[in-house]
Amino acid sequence: MNLNTRRSILISPGLFLSLLVISISALASPVSPQVSTALSDKGMVSTACPEATAVGAKVLERGGNAVDAAIAVGFALAVTYPTAGNIGGGGFFLVRTKEGETNFIDFREKAPLGASEKMYLDRWGKVVPQSSTLGHRAVGVPGTVSGLYKAYSLYATLSWEELVAPAIDLAEKGFPVNQELARSLRKLRKYMEEYPGLKKFQRPDGKPFLAENIFYQPQLAATLSRIAAGGPAEFYSGETARLIAREMEKGGGLITLDDLKRYRSVFREPVSGSYRGNQIISAPPPSSGGTVLLEILNILEGYEFSGQEFFSAPVVHRMIEAEKIAYADRARYLGDPDFIDIPVERLISKDYAARCRSAIGESAAPVKNITDGDSQPPESEETTHYSIIDSLGNAVAATITLNGAYGSKVVVEGAGFLLNNEMDDFSVKPGVQNIYGLVGGKANAIAPGKRMLSSMTPTMVLREGRIFLIAGTPGGSTIITTVAQMIVDIIDFNLNPQEAVAAPRFHNQWIPDLVYHEKEAFSPPLRADLERRGHKLKERSDIGDVQLILVNERGYYGVSDPRGGGRSRGVRKIERRLN
Ligand code: DON
Repeated sequence: MNLNTRRSILISPGLFLSLLVISISALASPVSPQVSTALSDKGMVSTACPEATAVGAKVLERGGNAVDAAIAVGFALAVTYPTAGNIGGGGFFLVRTKEGETNFIDFREKAPLGASEKMYLDRWGKVVPQSSTLGHRAVGVPGTVSGLYKAYSLYATLSWEELVAPAIDLAEKGFPVNQELARSLRKLRKYMEEYPGLKKFQRPDGKPFLAENIFYQPQLAATLSRIAAGGPAEFYSGETARLIAREMEKGGGLITLDDLKRYRSVFREPVSGSYRGNQIISAPPPSSGGTVLLEILNILEGYEFSGQEFFSAPVVHRMIEAEKIAYADRARYLGDPDFIDIPVERLISKDYAARCRSAIGESAAPVKNITDGDSQPPESEETTHYSIIDSLGNAVAATITLNGAYGSKVVVEGAGFLLNNEMDDFSVKPGVQNIYGLVGGKANAIAPGKRMLSSMTPTMVLREGRIFLIAGTPGGSTIITTVAQMIVDIIDFNLNPQEAVAAPRFHNQWIPDLVYHEKEAFSPPLRADLERRGHKLKERSDIGDVQLILVNERGYYGVSDPRGGGRSRGVRKIERRLN
């Protein structure tokens, strides 16, 4: 790929303060050869789905702020990006207002009150295959509607109905299925016999959707209309709640009306730290994201990378070792802060990082206590991140998920939406790997009403007190290393935003004892050097789908990862300003 061409696009003065949307073909990924970039000084929306991006940009153009846009995008994704967009799942919003206040909205799912620590084990103590990933018992109490409303109640300037309306429209009037969605929906067909609710994801004639077919979702439109009229009360104790409870009863799930009534999303203090003079703000527990991210960056900060070549062996080796240490701490210490004490301050301190660094040598540190041998690379990668900033500088980094692609595969009958399989993010048994190969223990054990540990890492980087980067990605356990590597690529190696988003990725998560890497990420000499140091390398599919906004004196640059089909769009003209 010719990165220099792309850099010259960015610095061309003729584009200053004007909107630029370029699609550059023939970039690295076999999945999608396009990277979508945009430039504007009036607002920017980067999402994994073009229809949702358009919804967000329109909200900004009508004078809504970044949180308004984030709420509307959240609902739109539940219609147009059903692999991960949801009202039956959960997620996190990291918000920074134009005044510089930060806030974190935690709408992570919770274990139902009927859940218990050993609920996925048989009587011999073995995990029942797929019990935490498929079907009704895999579902955590959904948080999205509560979380979006929480964001609305504190920050929104448009009405709730106006923010849900674009999603209702997309569900009712339909939208053309793109290649990527058609391909993904085809993979869902094998589950349709067992989970007949999934048949809504085929054409009315029973055939698979082809690209450009229009996908109508009348039941989902009706559910969204009820939510627009009744807010979270409708979802958690109205008709939708009754439909969820009925679905659970029918399929042997645990979620009751009481679980739904008691669900609350919460505000939390984001975690904050620094990397080479830049402030990093990210996700606190129950996400491991911000803590592990800061731990990795703190360890790396003690190394001088400026004279080093990008992707040189000493740099990659140190990054791998830092990742390994931080993920070992993740498994040991992290979980739901409402249930356990987590030494976050210690884990993200510079002192602790210095001690970790002193244990890093020139060879790969041995990984002890591997319980399950090698796991497979993550089977599905279906969460979604979006980044939004408005003309005033209000910003949102949002990551939302059903966990695996299409979650538990359970569609709520009569309501037309999917439920998550987030229960698998708990440590279902100490030392046993989840679908992302992650292990955990007591800290992340299942308990009634507890939130399962997440890796989602919606993140902002500030320079001299002003927003510099808004970023995040899906990818299960690889989310944190993807965000960390992108920050290092930009801050240490001066990659421009497209380069940083397109750059090859690798990932180590302590257990399994493997360095996963994208195809051709490592040159033959680099491979040889890493192997000499004792690293076991394993090629895997693409890692992540970053949606990045970089802010500098020229404006907002939005970049959607070439690995996915996302779109970045700048605001052209603001029609009216409400705040
Ligand atoms: O919260 C988590 O860490 C996972 N449920 C996220 C899942 C994910 O990123 C799937 N993939 N792309």
